[in-house]
Amino acid sequence: MGPLQIKDLLLQAPESQSVILKGWVRTKRESKNAIFIALNDGSTINNIQAVAQPGQFSPELLLTVTTGSCLKITGKLVESMGSGQAVEVQIDDIHVYGTADPEVYPLQPKKHSLEFLREIAHLRPRTNTFGAILRIRHTLAFAINKYFNDKGFFYLHTPIITASDAEGAGEMFRVTTLDLDKLPRTDEGAINFKEDFFGREANLTVSGQLEGELGAMALSKIYTFGPTFRAENSNTTRHLAEFWMIEPEMAFFELQDNMDLAEDFVKTVISYALEHCKDDLNFLQNRLTEEEKSKPQNERSLPLLEKLSFVVDNPFERLTYTEAIEILLQSKPHKEKKFQYPVGWGIDLSSEHERYLVEKHFKKPVILTNYPREIKSFYMKLDEDGKTVRAMDVLFPGIGEIIGGSQREDNYEKLLERVHEVGIDPETIWWYLETRKFGTAPHSGFGLGFERLVLFVTGMSNIRDVIPFPRYPKSAEF
Ligand code: 4AD
Ligand code: MG
Repeated sequence: MGPLQIKDLLLQAPESQSVILKGWVRTKRESKNAIFIALNDGSTINNIQAVAQPGQFSPELLLTVTTGSCLKITGKLVESMGSGQAVEVQIDDIHVYGTADPEVYPLQPKKHSLEFLREIAHLRPRTNTFGAILRIRHTLAFAINKYFNDKGFFYLHTPIITASDAEGAGEMFRVTTLDLDKLPRTDEGAINFKEDFFGREANLTVSGQLEGELGAMALSKIYTFGPTFRAENSNTTRHLAEFWMIEPEMAFFELQDNMDLAEDFVKTVISYALEHCKDDLNFLQNRLTEEEKSKPQNERSLPLLEKLSFVVDNPFERLTYTEAIEILLQSKPHKEKKFQYPVGWGIDLSSEHERYLVEKHFKKPVILTNYPREIKSFYMKLDEDGKTVRAMDVLFPGIGEIIGGSQREDNYEKLLERVHEVGIDPETIWWYLETRKFGTAPHSGFGLGFERLVLFVTGMSNIRDVIPFPRYPKSAEF
């Protein structure tokens, strides 16, 4: 089916066998004795070299073979005389599917800034860097599905359009078919959502968790892996308005089991990428090393592969929020008033605090647990002291929070009390509340931000560069 991929052709033994190549030209180089075309089809970071003799093709044809043009090449696979590749293709024939006028094609064989590439997101998958990122992204997605399947979890497809706010943070995108120029009104003058498509207010989901819990109360172990949407006006290198989240939810798991699963899960998928994305990770590692050359030695980060292996090989540090606050209060930046935000029990840790704990104090991933109830979501199980909840956040170096999760409140009265406390209308989640009336069970789960994982594994520094077509404030091009 279809042509052989370049990734597989590069592994074949050269026996002058006939081969067909289809792909995009990365570079063309003409010397006195030969014309070299480097072709790439995205199956691998490596190009295949195709060689023609001078005079073999008309100058008119060769003029259309430029960076970005798309070709079909027929020829013979032979041993390569050049260094850097084992095989190459002796060209018999070239067919040009599509030209790419070098006067206007924006991707020329030189270094482009990531900012510039963001403006041409329709073409950036054709660069080495984005090819590598997209292949790693795919491999991680596959590893995630494999991990849960191997562990007896069922993939539950939770809705994208919902009428509830799973996080209770009010950061939702409205979904409506009402005519914004002629909004139907009630007698009191409010917008009449009864006339809207769903007969009520609806929005894009911020999390599949609430429905995930319904699944776990029947199938025991489920996970979701889908797009989630947050209308928070966060212009940071860690936030997207549309991101993909993986949310496992498990009946009969308490906080300890939840932490064990989260740690084993991220380690397993990272080591899967280490094993299956060697060429791409090596490329990204070299790219980073190159980038950091201008920095002083002590500011450079660990080489990418070492950083990933370190995370896989070492236990995460586990401590409570209260212990973390103690450490921060004793810290040098706190004593020297270097933190921008104040430290004290009850604060929502800001990223400078998280980074201090992970990057300076422990120098490894950290799981923080038992946060104050006031700063966490309504569904988290209350601790015996009534002050903290059974929350857990996994914090990663260079990333901050990569996972957020908790044991869930399984007691109907306590949950209802929290719902009222945070001002959610119980009517909008009556079905969620009913699980605590009918066969309630201890259960737990967490959410991993997929792009934050891809960010960590690729070593990139902006989350907008690890999703093909990013969505963020004032940007929904492509
Ligand atoms: O901590 P969050 O908001 O937790 C939840 O949504 C829970 N319902 C998860 C659960 O227990 N099932 O989000 C979970 C993770 C964060 O740790 C972060 O990695 C990622 O989702 N995340 C974002 N990633 C990119 N852009 C954003 N705006 C993000 N907001 C959260
Ligand atoms: Mg969180």
